[in-house]
Amino acid sequence: MLSYSQSGQLAEITKRIVEPLQQDGRIAVHIETLRPVNPYPFPWGFFSFLDAFPESAHMVAPPLKPLSLTGEEDFDLVILPYQVWFLAPSLPITAFLKHPVAKRLLAGKPVVTVIACRNMWMLAQEKMKTLLDVCDARLLDNVVLVDPSPTMVSLFTTPLWLLSGKRDFLKVLPPAGVDAASIQAAGRFGFALRDALRKNEERGNAPLLTGLKAVDSDPNLLVSEKAGTRSFYLWGKLLRAVGEPGQLRRYPFLILYVIFLIALILTVVPLSLLIQVLLRPLMRRRFAALKQQFDLPSGSGTERMHLYEH
Ligand SMILES: Cc1cc2nc3c(=O)[nH]c(=O)nc-3n(C[C@H](O)[C@H](O)[C@H](O)COP(=O)(O)O)c2cc1C
Repeated sequence: MLSYSQSGQLAEITKRIVEPLQQDGRIAVHIETLRPVNPYPFPWGFFSFLDAFPESAHMVAPPLKPLSLTGEEDFDLVILPYQVWFLAPSLPITAFLKHPVAKRLLAGKPVVTVIACRNMWMLAQEKMKTLLDVCDARLLDNVVLVDPSPTMVSLFTTPLWLLSGKRDFLKVLPPAGVDAASIQAAGRFGFALRDALRKNEERGNAPLLTGLKAVDSDPNLLVSEKAGTRSFYLWGKLLRAVGEPGQLRRYPFLILYVIFLIALILTVVPLSLLIQVLLRPLMRRRFAALKQQFDLPSGSGTERMHLYEH
């Protein structure tokens, strides 16, 4: 299992998932913690936070400190938890997937991705699939945990959390991040993986976590994700032409961009959400098809929940 978490949120979720595996005497678990050579700060500074978007959007990975893996290990299953940074997999995880070790380690191997983020992860998972394809990995399952607050609330509470380190920086708004009950309930995925491993089901191509409400995608967010990805990519190109990460000459452009970004958040996001509410009756079938597509491979069904609720 890979491990990288700044606030401890993703670490807490993956701990719940991995515990049932660790408690099984027949399963050996290796946890590989990723350590960027230049660590990302937490809490973030205003500029360091913004300065991470060009490289995130372009998936330009930072160097990692040496891994304890060689790539020759022969794991039965790889659990790949990641957080989303600027609508792409976070840079430390991207760095691992672009590392030569990952290619050797993941070739032909079944992978379960576990995402914990605010709520915009669909296009990041598309990028993740491309990274996994390059490594020849087999994506069996995708688990997604998100902040339960409405989008227009978490768009403010999340940056405040990341910049202050406090989930409840504004006491009047709900705390940022994945809720405690969902984190606690993530243990069900660990028990289901343990049972699947006992039966060697990871050798097949069928998902191991169906019926456990692993994913509940919201295609309403797709329009905003597409607009955001495009803008991060184009502005990211400009910023990368201006200078390297951390260089002062990027700052004026970052200020310009943040003004643009806030305008985008205050206009495109609510407008696209509103238009979609209005169009919902006409778009029902398209919406259902998109939801089914983004819920893959594990799906949003709940039929096996009763087996794994502890
Ligand atoms: C630089 C940065 C960019 C982020 N961008 C997104 C995003 O585009 N979509 C999203 O849903 N969450 C986003 N988040 C929230 C993270 O996915 C994650 O939930 C949060 O950082 C906590 O992760 P941790 O376990 O590393 O502390 C972002 C966080 C950071 C630090």
